[in-house]
Amino acid sequence: MIIKQITVHTELYKQALILRNEILRIPLGQNIFNEDLSDEARQVHFAAIENTQLVGCVVLIPHYSAGIGKLRQMATSEKIRGKGYGLQLVSALENYAIKNNMDSIVLHARHYAVGFYQKLGYSVCSAVFEEVGMEHYKMSKTIG
Ligand SMILES: CC(C)(COP(=O)(O)OP(=O)(O)OC[C@H]1O[C@@H](n2cnc3c(N)ncnc32)[C@H](O)[C@@H]1OP(=O)(O)O)[C@@H](O)C(=O)NCCC(=O)NCCS
Repeated sequence: MIIKQITVHTELYKQALILRNEILRIPLGQNIFNEDLSDEARQVHFAAIENTQLVGCVVLIPHYSAGIGKLRQMATSEKIRGKGYGLQLVSALENYAIKNNMDSIVLHARHYAVGFYQKLGYSVCSAVFEEVGMEHYKMSKTIG
């Protein structure tokens, strides 16, 4: 498995959208291909690739606010979960953020993913709130 930074207008980005749709949208009755994705060209995309297939992805909004990056769209394929690929994707995102002058990462965690981010050093920093019809918590981590 390798972690690679990818750009929009590539075959791997198309694969990432398909994975994100399967894992993060279809279960909610939504379709990512109906969304306005135009901002994504300015965001930073990381992919986990195994045997030429994309098996995980995560997206960084760089400098979401001063010195802070926002992590979004974290997903790994069910068949490879528990092998550390999610952790390696977040590490790649954090390393990029450090090199590009960000000192913390924020994210909105689905309630069932809070434990995953806690393992990676993130802390809950909000009360529960609703987003895409599901309970979420704001989480953050100081990096570097
Ligand atoms: C959450 C998700 C990205 C984790 O991916 P993964 O590839 O299984 O993660 P890793 O194998 O790197 O796990 C790292 C550690 O976190 C733990 N972990 C993984 N998912 C967890 C969860 N939901 N709750 C608590 N701990 C979790 C693993 O057991 C592992 O711990 P260990 O090192 O002690 O064994 C994946 O389950 C997923 O895509 N879920 C559906 C989409 C989702 O919830 N995305 C986040 C939206 S905010």
